[in-house]
Amino acid sequence: MENVKLLESSILKRDLTTLRDKNSSSVVFSTALRRIALILAVESGSVLDTVSTVVDTPLEKTDGYKLRTNPVLLPVLRAGLGMLEGFREIYPDSPVGMIGTKRNEATLAAENYYINIPKSADGDIVFLLDPMLATGGTGIHAIETLKKMGFNAIIYFSVISAPEGINNVQKAHPSVKIITCAIDRELNSNGYIMPGLGDAGDRYFST
Ligand code: URA
Repeated sequence: MENVKLLESSILKRDLTTLRDKNSSSVVFSTALRRIALILAVESGSVLDTVSTVVDTPLEKTDGYKLRTNPVLLPVLRAGLGMLEGFREIYPDSPVGMIGTKRNEATLAAENYYINIPKSADGDIVFLLDPMLATGGTGIHAIETLKKMGFNAIIYFSVISAPEGINNVQKAHPSVKIITCAIDRELNSNGYIMPGLGDAGDRYFST
């Protein structure tokens, strides 16, 4: 799979197991999700450019670096909120948007029920945060919304992805890089990722 990065580490394996465990309480689930998001956020540094600067140490001047731009953080409501804190830890100065997408019962087309995204500026990069890349329908719609607003550099961060969802996103938006922590077996007939972790929003918000 091109343009897909699968992160692997013992810490991720441990925390993914906590997320998958149906006996993990909402507090335990939230803590593990936040930690995984933090790991993804650290990894995201590899896709960002730096610009040179000069820094005064207590002894002399030396070379330093700044990020060329702070990424726009865009959690997809509502489970994406569970990833926001981890990313804000690494990008405290980033603007944060929000997007909520649902399926119109009559037309079955995806539509945004909530959207609050900062205006795009040249060179902006958006980090789309959605823990479960299932069918990809929500992500594809969010990416289309972003492109219409002028954002062209978009990275999709998920915790668990289904092969079907990855294929759908890649087919619709080949330029969007996907960074994920697990690629599970398949989607079931209800659109849940198998083996997955159930409904991420319900588990995070204890609903
Ligand atoms: N969203 C979830 O929260 N879980 C899934 O398995 C699929 C979509």
